[in-house]
Amino acid sequence: MTEQKPNIVCLKDYRAPDYLIDDVELTFELAPRDTRVTSRLHVRRNGDHGNPLRLDGDELRLESVAIDGAALAGDRYSIDADGMTIESVPESFVLEIVNRVDPIDNTALDGLYQSSGNFCTQCEPEGFRRITYFPDRPDVLSRYRVTLVADRVTCPVLLSNGNPIEQKDLGDGRHQATWEDPHPKPSYLFALVAGKLEAIHDEFTTRSGRKVDLGIYVEPHNIDRCDHAMRSLIKSMRWDEETYGREYDLDVFNIVAVDDFNMGAMENKGLNVFNSKFILARAETATDQDYDGIESVVAHEYFHNWSGNRVTCRDWFQLSLKEGFTVFRDQEFSADMGSPAVKRIEEVNLLRQVQFAEDAGPQAHPVQPKEYQEINNFYTATVYNKGAEVVRMWHNLLGWDRFRQATDRYFERFDGQAVTIEDFIDTMAEQADFDTAQFRRWYDRAGTPVVRVNKERDGEQVQVVLEQEIPAVAGQEDSDPFLMPLRIAAFDGEGRQLPLDASGSTEETLILNDSRTTFAFPVAADVDRVVLSLNRGFTAPVKIQHAYDAGDLTLLARCDTDEFNRWDAYQRLVLKTLVGRIREAEEVGEWPETALPEGLSEAFGSVLHAANNGTDARFVAECLALPSEPYIAEQFERDVPVDAIHRARVELRAQLGNEWSQSLMLTYKNQAVEGSYAFDGADVGRRALRAQCLSYLNALDHPAWRRLAVEQIAETDNMTERFNALQALCVRESVERDEALEGFAKQWADDPLVMDKWLSLQARIVQPDDKDTLSRLEAHPAFSIRNPNRVRSLVGTFSRANPVAFHAASGSGYRWVADKIIEVDGFNPQISARMATVFSRWRRYDGARADLMKEQMTRMLDRPDCSTDLAEIVGKALA
Ligand code: TRP
Ligand code: ZN
Repeated sequence: MTEQKPNIVCLKDYRAPDYLIDDVELTFELAPRDTRVTSRLHVRRNGDHGNPLRLDGDELRLESVAIDGAALAGDRYSIDADGMTIESVPESFVLEIVNRVDPIDNTALDGLYQSSGNFCTQCEPEGFRRITYFPDRPDVLSRYRVTLVADRVTCPVLLSNGNPIEQKDLGDGRHQATWEDPHPKPSYLFALVAGKLEAIHDEFTTRSGRKVDLGIYVEPHNIDRCDHAMRSLIKSMRWDEETYGREYDLDVFNIVAVDDFNMGAMENKGLNVFNSKFILARAETATDQDYDGIESVVAHEYFHNWSGNRVTCRDWFQLSLKEGFTVFRDQEFSADMGSPAVKRIEEVNLLRQVQFAEDAGPQAHPVQPKEYQEINNFYTATVYNKGAEVVRMWHNLLGWDRFRQATDRYFERFDGQAVTIEDFIDTMAEQADFDTAQFRRWYDRAGTPVVRVNKERDGEQVQVVLEQEIPAVAGQEDSDPFLMPLRIAAFDGEGRQLPLDASGSTEETLILNDSRTTFAFPVAADVDRVVLSLNRGFTAPVKIQHAYDAGDLTLLARCDTDEFNRWDAYQRLVLKTLVGRIREAEEVGEWPETALPEGLSEAFGSVLHAANNGTDARFVAECLALPSEPYIAEQFERDVPVDAIHRARVELRAQLGNEWSQSLMLTYKNQAVEGSYAFDGADVGRRALRAQCLSYLNALDHPAWRRLAVEQIAETDNMTERFNALQALCVRESVERDEALEGFAKQWADDPLVMDKWLSLQARIVQPDDKDTLSRLEAHPAFSIRNPNRVRSLVGTFSRANPVAFHAASGSGYRWVADKIIEVDGFNPQISARMATVFSRWRRYDGARADLMKEQMTRMLDRPDCSTDLAEIVGKALA
């Protein structure tokens, strides 16, 4: 085998395109195995040069090439594995290319493929080259005119970007439709959909009076599950007008839901294509969490119309320009639609659990990466979620008014252009009254900064010292400090918020821009205790280190006026208890018999009771949720004690459940939702809190609590309560659990999205080394290795949410997951590479486990046909 040198793309090598394409005319004669693509490109030389015309192309069957109507002889152009080169071309000309593709064979779900017998496309980031020869890069913007020709019976619906301009019958059993998109766009935003679909329609009139037809297209049997997505779309359109002054710019906006999709959804101009998971919902089949996900993903894709489509990226190193900004926009939209505090908690949970981990491991990269092998591997939590945090810091530093002025200028100045993160920064910087050069580090450096905070009381003054520590990751050597906003407050021993200056203001946003920053504030002599509330609202995406004792945390959990920090304090308290027990077990060498710490128990009780005193039930539920095992594992740099983490968490749940069973039971009853299901803030909160209560109760081995769950499953009208009860039953083994799981599978056998929930629940509870159960699940009719949602539900959940089984000392978990990854890599490299990131953190595990993980990674990599996607992830992990 010859060693393949990885092909590395570098930001510093960027060059403007040699040729531009102003207009694109495409004709698709759609057929499952043999679709014919005719492409007429209006090409123009860009600048003064004699370079050849280079077009990207991947897995295409070329039929003909012509320039200005004259066929090109074979010696005028050459074809290689990645595309086509035409040595000499006129200044400007029409290039006509005819080629064929096989949508059925396209198992990578990238380019033109079939899902449930319907044609659809996915082009971002480099899928268009799998449809036809083209300069497939985001800085080539063209107007598209697209004609679809297909069988009338199998493809009654024909969609593409922009506005429909013509539809006609061809008389031979086929019909055709033509679409025109007046807005120049990069090839990655191209889309077509054709098939047997049904739609719901609505309309939206923009602020300036444009009437927009809205359509959501789904397979006919799903037509009763589109209403929530449509409502979400309309809310998003309204919100973007009201909040950012952004209006929609076409006569139609269509969404299509498909079952086979690599990611969540795609913002193609005027024709968003969605993973059906993020469209389909009705009360009987979708949970509150699903409803939430739909609302935010519909918004995310819609918001891309401005942050991504009208203003797009120059190259893929700028990905966070559209993704970080759009995530920030969708986060704020969701906050406005529901509970801002709960939304922030969810965002930070994701950031801490996924992004911080990524940023501390071998896949660490800056928000603006400097190089990549496979761009598909850079759709990461860092680019998306840390990117959103960085935009949020701009917002916090500038304040809303100036931030909004900057976004107005950004959209105005760069409308119709492909720009860079630098352009975004410059526009923000114009509104700033601080030195923004230092802020750029957030885009250029990987790793999560740590802010160590010390507090000293000196009579009537408190001195706060904040020190930044910059981790050495991703080969970075410098440790220059970042510029960040850090909101703080202070409380006395009675939980009263203290003034921080003479004017009496009780909250301060500190701007840290040095390795060491100090902040002093006066306190009255009779204040005997000062507790700091740090990084309130999580204004900076950092780790705070501060010597809180259990008393401080209990006080903050009860009294902090910043809801996010109240949650954070309670979570820190729980984490402190868990980690303390695990470390003690390690030191003593056996599991400690520890009573439930009184402070924690009291804090739990007061959080629980807050729900009866008007505190948002959903917030209470977020507090009560125990930190996940992977997050607890993050607290250990080496030799992650997988089994002890699991045990400590199970035990603490049972102890709290036991101590508070009466209150849990009462809260469970009190929070019952009256009437039929509605996706409404208050009801969602009640269901979430009931779910927590039921889980704590079911941690106890008592038939009464199991009966409660079984009854909830039998009596409810909605999937949220049904699934929550099933989850609660899964907290421990029981006959009731097994019967409920079986009943659920029978009832929902024909509903793939519901069966995903079942698969993931099973994946979460399967015991270490239980190969039979895994084999049974793989063979279950509900599972298909070809469908990304199924694979994520079973393999993804097993490897990420069942650490005890994945990290089984025998290596059986690693082997099973590696088997699946290798299988998937044979037909869908985007998915195999994504799954493999779970092995990245092998160095944090004990020697035996680390060796076993390494062994599996080597097995994945040492295959002659290992994809470049997977090779990049595993290669970096092993390096
Ligand atoms: N731009 C899409 C989004 O943020 C992401 C996306 C959809 C994507 N499909 C993809 C990225 C396929 C890579 C490959 O919503
Ligand atoms: Zn996006």
